[in-house]
Amino acid sequence: MAQQDATVLLDEDHNAVMRLFEQYKAAHDDNRKRVLAQQICQELTVHMRIEDEIFYSAFRNATHDEELLQDATQEHDEARKLITKLQDTPTDAHLMLELEHAILHHVNDEREEMFPEARKSKNMDLMQLAQQLEARKAELMAAHPA
Ligand SMILES: [Fe+2]
Ligand SMILES: [Fe+2]
Repeated sequence: MAQQDATVLLDEDHNAVMRLFEQYKAAHDDNRKRVLAQQICQELTVHMRIEDEIFYSAFRNATHDEELLQDATQEHDEARKLITKLQDTPTDAHLMLELEHAILHHVNDEREEMFPEARKSKNMDLMQLAQQLEARKAELMAAHPA
């Protein structure tokens, strides 16, 4: 059961995927790159899905900050396009770097803008959202193992 609020939980996902990007850059053989690319794509796909389904919709109901949500959703769409390409060419280091930069930018937006706004809002139960996020993540990971 989640002991931390939803923004901390989501940020742990961010840190985990950043570590995978570092491992990918350090990897020397293509098999290792393929395994890591698969993990990165899966982690990000599940992460964006639980954000879209649970966190972003709660954020929308609480803050009505449509402008911020539109940017974030557009960034998810762009990341998903890169992920689709990477699934065909998982050893393309240049493409992976493009994804890393896109995710870095997006994560910064969440950390600097969306999460502080969520924590300020009186209308979001971040502890309860963390539990929902955790449960949905476990469900999605089980359905689509890396
Ligand atoms: Fe996101
Ligand atoms: Fe995120």
